[in-house]
Amino acid sequence: MAKLAIIYGTGFGNTGIMAKAIEEGAKSAGIDVIIKKVEESTPADVEKADAIAIGSATYRGAAMPSVIKYVESLSKLTLKGKVGTAFGSYGWSGEAAGVISRMLKSYGMDVLEPSLRIKRTPEEEGIGTCRELGKLLARKLKGTE
Ligand SMILES: Cc1cc2nc3c(=O)[nH]c(=O)nc-3n(C[C@H](O)[C@H](O)[C@H](O)COP(=O)(O)O)c2cc1C
Repeated sequence: MAKLAIIYGTGFGNTGIMAKAIEEGAKSAGIDVIIKKVEESTPADVEKADAIAIGSATYRGAAMPSVIKYVESLSKLTLKGKVGTAFGSYGWSGEAAGVISRMLKSYGMDVLEPSLRIKRTPEEEGIGTCRELGKLLARKLKGTE
């Protein structure tokens, strides 16, 4: 079965809520998902996946250093052609998802755009948008989109 890896960094849990909603959407569309906080993940999780979604909240105009370091560590893998996307919660400027998206593109990945940003704590509508992203990733992997 096609597999999606969702790896994310969060300070207060908002980006984690997004990650779990993406997981729900992808599972409901019939693909395998592994979901891990960045601190618990190794590049092997990404290597085994057909698509990856990387999340980070924005702090001080940037992605979380732990997530940047993790994405940098993926440079040694062959990611060309794999489906990727970036997401994250933010407060006002929201740079993180765009930064991650550019890094994934530099690895030759097929990156879905725009990356998904949600202000502060996702409400029902935002959670729905995250679920839709999970379903879209699943359709991409199944070749139906
Ligand atoms: C110290 C600090 C710095 C922050 N800096 C930014 C920032 O530069 N730009 C922005 O859009 N949001 C900023 N935020 C807001 C967070 O991105 C926002 O609270 C987000 O929902 C946190 O997501 P998380 O719960 O996944 O950590 C900052 C928050 C804190 C506490």
